[in-house]
Amino acid sequence: MTADPVQHTPTPIRVRSVGTRLERVDGLEKVTGRAGYAVEHGADDGFDGALVAWLVTSTVARGRVTSVDTAAAAAHDGVVAVLDHTSAPRLADTDDGELAILQDPQVHFRGQVVALVLAETAESAREAASLVEVSYDVEEHEAELTEEAATYRPDSVNPAFDTDSDTGDVDAALAEAAVVVDEEYRTPHEHNNPMEPHATTAVWRSDGDGEVLDLVDSTQAVHGVASTLAPMLGLEQDQVRVRAPYVGGGFGSKGQPHAHVVAAALAARHVSPRPVRLAVTRQQMFALTGYRTATISRMRLGADADGRLTAIEHRVFEQSSKVKEFAEQTAVPTRMLYAAPNRRTSHRLAMLDVAVPSWMRAPGEMPGVFAHEVAMDELAQACGLDPVELRLRNEPDVDPETGNPWNNRRLPECLHRGAERFGWAGRPAEARATLEGDWWVGTGMAAATYPAYRQGGNAARVTALDGGRYAVAIGAVDIGTGARTVLTQIAADALEVGTDAVDLEVGDTRLPSASVAGGSSGTASWGSTIVAAAQAFRERHGDDPGAGAEVLAEAADDPLGTDVAFHSFGAVFAEARVHRRTGEVRVPRLFGVYSVGRVVNPVTAHSQLVGGLVMGLSAALFEESWRDARFGHVVTQDLASYHVAAHADVRDVDAEWLEESDDAFSPMGARGIGEIGIVGTAAAVVNAAHHATGVRVRSLPVTADHFL
Ligand code: MOS
Repeated sequence: MTADPVQHTPTPIRVRSVGTRLERVDGLEKVTGRAGYAVEHGADDGFDGALVAWLVTSTVARGRVTSVDTAAAAAHDGVVAVLDHTSAPRLADTDDGELAILQDPQVHFRGQVVALVLAETAESAREAASLVEVSYDVEEHEAELTEEAATYRPDSVNPAFDTDSDTGDVDAALAEAAVVVDEEYRTPHEHNNPMEPHATTAVWRSDGDGEVLDLVDSTQAVHGVASTLAPMLGLEQDQVRVRAPYVGGGFGSKGQPHAHVVAAALAARHVSPRPVRLAVTRQQMFALTGYRTATISRMRLGADADGRLTAIEHRVFEQSSKVKEFAEQTAVPTRMLYAAPNRRTSHRLAMLDVAVPSWMRAPGEMPGVFAHEVAMDELAQACGLDPVELRLRNEPDVDPETGNPWNNRRLPECLHRGAERFGWAGRPAEARATLEGDWWVGTGMAAATYPAYRQGGNAARVTALDGGRYAVAIGAVDIGTGARTVLTQIAADALEVGTDAVDLEVGDTRLPSASVAGGSSGTASWGSTIVAAAQAFRERHGDDPGAGAEVLAEAADDPLGTDVAFHSFGAVFAEARVHRRTGEVRVPRLFGVYSVGRVVNPVTAHSQLVGGLVMGLSAALFEESWRDARFGHVVTQDLASYHVAAHADVRDVDAEWLEESDDAFSPMGARGIGEIGIVGTAAAVVNAAHHATGVRVRSLPVTADHFL
């Protein structure tokens, strides 16, 4: 990029393609196998003769590496180099304890990178990695999350929320409340398992202008990888090029670079100018690429006899790694979901000798709303109220935390529409009322919410091509969600041309800077920026520009800077069947209704919402990473032992949305849809299982033993 971007305030677009079912613009590449993922780049892309890097990871949870015997590995056929903390290239900045690998002998968690092998083939690298002998001075470690181990930390919770909140007098209100729910809810460690494991291809090139590190990385943020890696490697940001043309999912785990990206960069520097390919194995992902912390939520709800909340308290205990702090914002959604004059939330964090937790689809909202929405079901039961009615009675007029007006809070409409479409009316008020054959049958529901984010600092470029076509460029990433497709639709409408006339380029730091594909913010952030660029282009060049006419622009407005609460909402309904002899739980029906602003593409949106519901179902019934505190590692470290929902588990799952356009939020009227589908879903299943059986489960996953 040469010129500074012009600032343009985007105005609402006239929708033509937006809202229609445009086929994925990259569908053909994907289904024919021509889409190149991170380790599939070779000579054509400047990665000729790549070596394969294989990580060697620690087998102890805490201590010091005393020696690394590389002799057998180095002698293995095809091995080019073995790097450890004594031989790896030095980093210029080692502040990030997760990323600063191979710089010192300290071991901070089991599964940390302690060496790597470079070889001509993957088979050779893998075999040689098994021959590296690492010796340790082992130290005592702590790896067990308990309430006692969790302490106050002054830092904010992800990304910048206050650790605690306290309004009114919760204790007094609870003492006077007609009805109190006081229970503990738990969610387990969960691991992001995108279809494509994390992988990086790297090469150091020198040209006339100096060194450039060239990466193809499976990431949700190309510019984020470059800005994180550059200072660590002593480079300017424009000396790190990152491409992510196709990414096979991330669920947040590719939102920030993890240690393997640094490993690939160091390995490629060592063998420069040869390129290096590094793929994290599925097993290694369970220590190296982030996960959702286990959570303990202590909830206290107080209400009057009519079910109107007088007090809400949500105290959270969870963990991070001693080597890097990440605090899941578990109680943050509790601050805004329902009205109550007295409210208190807190987060306490145990710093342990364990792998570093990170973002996993709806960090905070997923475990936090699980606890809150199961507690609400218990409150409905205690008050003798229908669970839908209980929520309607506790609708807040304004954001309870800030007093700000809601931009577009339509939870009641989601509840009404969901109840109608699901067939909620006529549901037996009592639990354990319906036995069909050997199956107890019940229904349950939960509310869902997710904040609406629009990231600033994005830029987009519009260039007129021959024949009335346009190139539209932004360094966004399509991680499989359909971003390329919806951005093409938005660009076409903003330029007032057909989608066939738009060549959309994404996934490269050579393109204008763009924010992470995370926080359900991509469509709104990148789309608003593309609209700004297209509108600025048309103001300057009209609708018959000469080829080569170009505008680089940023969106000048910042909706999050206003005093308005922007959130999306939803209502999830589930049917559960629990086998009366085996305790087996099945979910034959799952249905969500969402208010997410205007839907840009009904096909990709439906797929995101249903995908979120399926992931919530998976969390409800299966997902659980077992950390063995004696050794510090997760023992369920593959898809044979870490169970996710399979086809046979996913029956009638469907989602729909309210017809609306949130013009105050973005010029397309869209908010975001990537995460809200997982929120509340596990609670709906737990509540349905309670309605079926009368057994209240307060921890995930809902396994058969609870019912026996
Ligand atoms: Mo999402 S967990 O912000 O990629």
